[in-house]
Amino acid sequence: MKFLLVAMVLAGCGNAALHHLFVGTTDGSSLYTLELDDQLKQVSLVKNNAAAGASPSMVVHRSKQYLFGSRPSDGTVSRYGIKDDLSLTLEGTMDIPASCNTTAFTDIKLSSDVNSFDIYGSASTGNCSTLFATSTDGFYTMRSREILGDIRSLAWSPNGLHLFALDYKTHTVLNFNITDTGSPTLEDVLDNALLSNVTNPRQMISHPTGHRIYAITQDSNELLDVPLSTSDRVAKDVVAARFNVLPSTLKASDYTTQSLAISSSNSTLWTLSRSNGQSVISVFSLDPTTGAVLRAIARAAWKDVSASKNSLIAPAPFAGDIIAVSNSPLGIVAFIGLNGTTLSSYGRLDLGSDPGCCGEAVWLS
Ligand SMILES: *[C@@H]1O[C@H](CO)[C@@H](O)[C@H](O)[C@H]1NC(C)=O
Ligand SMILES: *[C@@H]1O[C@H](CO)[C@@H](O)[C@H](O)[C@H]1NC(C)=O
Ligand SMILES: *[C@@H]1O[C@H](CO)[C@@H](O)[C@H](O)[C@H]1NC(C)=O
Ligand SMILES: *[C@@H]1O[C@H](CO)[C@@H](O)[C@H](O)[C@H]1NC(C)=O
Ligand SMILES: *[C@@H]1O[C@H](CO)[C@@H](O)[C@H](O)[C@H]1NC(C)=O
Ligand SMILES: *[C@@H]1O[C@H](CO)[C@@H](O)[C@H](O)[C@H]1NC(C)=O
Repeated sequence: MKFLLVAMVLAGCGNAALHHLFVGTTDGSSLYTLELDDQLKQVSLVKNNAAAGASPSMVVHRSKQYLFGSRPSDGTVSRYGIKDDLSLTLEGTMDIPASCNTTAFTDIKLSSDVNSFDIYGSASTGNCSTLFATSTDGFYTMRSREILGDIRSLAWSPNGLHLFALDYKTHTVLNFNITDTGSPTLEDVLDNALLSNVTNPRQMISHPTGHRIYAITQDSNELLDVPLSTSDRVAKDVVAARFNVLPSTLKASDYTTQSLAISSSNSTLWTLSRSNGQSVISVFSLDPTTGAVLRAIARAAWKDVSASKNSLIAPAPFAGDIIAVSNSPLGIVAFIGLNGTTLSSYGRLDLGSDPGCCGEAVWLS
């Protein structure tokens, strides 16, 4: 793998810090602890932890004491304790509340509540989905009604009072009322908004402070910018602003767009697209006040030896606009930083010698 459009900018000053993230597998039994030195731009594998099974979707608990990983094939969520030496120990596995007449799913997404210490998730069979929530100890769980559709993505409003769920098949956005007083029920759907003229919206995120959600379409390679009301409601006939993710010099039909994220400055939005042989990162600037997408400001492309089914962007939580990209089935985790309009590599790690890497990457610090 080689960065084509990347200038290596050596940091002259700044505070060197070590950062850590966990990487799961789509079909393996390891969970990896990685370390990034953002001054030296070096990545290393610090722990290869035994996992309960694959963990294609993960979330770090708000306390930073636990990692939760999900296993769609047997409908379970496992909790791991994060030790001082950054190793992970399996502490327990719970069943997702049975729904859609099954306990096996094709896709699970996990997400951490903004206001409580609960873990939320979506589980989909491809035709039928439910949302669920569980307390840290798994003692208390709840789930939504069954939803005829394929929920593949969840996002929170900044105040944590709304949980948005994106349906890949019916291209609708559901807006769940999550109360901060008493217990939310996952039964109170405030909005059910159809994104018109949109197919296969694969992932959705929200702006960290503004009233906006964004989604990417897998096959038409578009970025959708969806404004919300000031109370985070989605209008029934909402019209998304649309942007082509790829430059016109690339043959868009060869690509699928697979992931998007906002990096730590909250002012740039990144998308990742894949063809059979090449990955393309596109970076868009956002209006600092409203979060509206302005324009593409940077791009980088690199060659991959084969097509990948799934590439995911994990934005770093610390200053510096750095992202990690984890990739399946190539098994590569690559780190990329943005300085102004220049993208540069912060290193990469090849975990492809272990089977089944990589699922989602999640940052601890
Ligand atoms: C960003 O770029 C500027 C000049 O282009 C350079 O002085 C600075 O050191 C760079 N910062 C990092 C973190 O690489
Ligand atoms: C679950 O099974 C019941 C009874 O067979 C059926 O009525 C219902 O439609 C099924 N639900 C789904 C989501 O397949
Ligand atoms: C979804 O439903 C269709 C039509 O009923 C069926 O052909 C397909 O196999 C189902 N897919 C999944 C993943 O269950
Ligand atoms: C959300 O639910 C709470 C508790 O039931 C309720 O007080 C509030 O009005 C609901 N929000 C909306 C927008 O309906
Ligand atoms: C629907 O979206 C496509 C791009 O995906 C665009 O070319 C077309 O103009 C849109 N049609 C309408 C009616 O908005
Ligand atoms: C980005 O938004 C998050 C969430 O509100 C906030 O904690 C963080 O300070 C913001 N970052 C910057 C650089 O403003």
